[in-house]
Amino acid sequence: MSKSVTGDARVELRFESHLAVLTLNRPDKLNALDFEMLLALQRAADVIDQSNARVAILTGAGEKAFCAGGDIEAWSSWPHDDFGWRWVKQGHRSFDALARLKIPMIAALNGHCLGGGLELATVADFRIAEVQSKIGLPETSLGIIPGWSGTQRAVRRFGAQVVRRMALGGEIFQGDDVLALGLADQVVAKGEALNAAHAMADKIAQRSPKASALTKLMINIAEGEEREASVETLGGLIAASSDELKVGVAAFKAKVKPVF
Ligand code: COA
Repeated sequence: MSKSVTGDARVELRFESHLAVLTLNRPDKLNALDFEMLLALQRAADVIDQSNARVAILTGAGEKAFCAGGDIEAWSSWPHDDFGWRWVKQGHRSFDALARLKIPMIAALNGHCLGGGLELATVADFRIAEVQSKIGLPETSLGIIPGWSGTQRAVRRFGAQVVRRMALGGEIFQGDDVLALGLADQVVAKGEALNAAHAMADKIAQRSPKASALTKLMINIAEGEEREASVETLGGLIAASSDELKVGVAAFKAKVKPVF
């Protein structure tokens, strides 16, 4: 398997001007996620956060799927202890890193978006779904739970009842229902999600990057996405912009008492 900036060619990251495009590239398996792809997603989040990109798009390669979830072959072969402590936990690390990107992210859902695929799409700030995309949380039919925040972030973002309908009732939503239930912000024709995501990204990229980053952070705080780290990020930003920091550090270096 050839390497990419993410360390795994099945998780492709490229930059176009102010845009970061993150593509799951495993179409033969409907972009199902294995452990190495989770690690690559976490690395991708780091690279995006250190870049000059103003907006990110997340999508899947091929015509059938955004992502059909966790790789059933992969996770079903893990000892149960590792399943919880490594598989589930790494999904959280990777998805949290993406949900907490400084810049806004748009998920372009170009087909099946199931289980871990929906949990991944949920990390984005916006979702644009093609009309044929089937969206659901089928895990309980496999004897497991939606464990990459399907019962947590998805509840915060979409509401508990729609998650109950998918995760407990097994409903799979599509088309107008997806829009009505707030699972996506736009529903577009087959083959159009990426174009629509680019159009939205162009508008976002024209806005103030600093104000947008702060606004996203505060919305995340309000939504319960992250609290400790984001409050301290804000505090750190304010403190670091003060002259008192320069006074304190200069005094430390000169081995004298700071005078504020
Ligand atoms: N994990 C591993 N492999 C998967 C997968 C998954 N979650 N979803 C699809 N695939 C693989 C299939 O095994 C198949 O591989 P093969 O060609 O080597 O046999 C390939 O992707 C194509 O899938 P296929 O089932 O043939 O396509 P389909 O159009 O008939 O059905 C789905 C599409 C999405 C309905 C079906 O693939 C499916 O139900 N996938 C599982 C969805 C799920 O339960 N996700 C939650 C997992 S925790």
